[in-house]
Amino acid sequence: MIKRIAIFASGSGSNAENIIRYFGHNPKIIFTKIYCNKKGAGVLERAERLKVETTVFSKSEFHDGTILSDLEQNQTDLIILAGFLWLIPQEIIRAFAGRIINIHPSLLPKYGGKGMYGMHVHEAVIENKETESGITIHLVDEEYDRGEVLFQAKTAVEEKDTPEILAQKIHELEYRFFPEVIENFLKNKFRA
Ligand code: GAR
Repeated sequence: MIKRIAIFASGSGSNAENIIRYFGHNPKIIFTKIYCNKKGAGVLERAERLKVETTVFSKSEFHDGTILSDLEQNQTDLIILAGFLWLIPQEIIRAFAGRIINIHPSLLPKYGGKGMYGMHVHEAVIENKETESGITIHLVDEEYDRGEVLFQAKTAVEEKDTPEILAQKIHELEYRFFPEVIENFLKNKFRA
């Protein structure tokens, strides 16, 4: 059975692109759309290049059911949050319970929660002189960064690392593991 995946992204979209390319030749996967909350975000340009449809939406459209109906109309099976920074409304969580996957650039529960995203995470990790950091791929529920953990991977943080260097190491882990974790999830959940 073909599975239909929607991606939500707010920024550059390098993970979104990596995921779409990974499944590029898989006839059983369709990327319905990239949903983005920010006009001018890098992910929109990537989507155009990758020939994936996009929808840019406002906070009110996110909360008044517009986006939920759009997801349903597009017969979405799975939602992937790839650098998406808004909390998901309850109605969407309920409609897609157990079918929303997020990636977070730290070893949750450390460095999660409101305001902890992207470079803020890496700055805090360096500031606190942590010796390791990593990625967490998890199911999404009503709270930021709290749902069931599907996968974690670690990387060492060296004394000389800057937040930018750490961001690069984390991105490498994300590119290497996020598509595989999605693939395994699809196999287990949908036998896809
Ligand atoms: C990624 O590192 C992702 O883990 C992080 O945003 C970055 C997006 O990069 N997500 C969060 O911080 C979510 N709380 P990208 O736009 O290049 O894929």
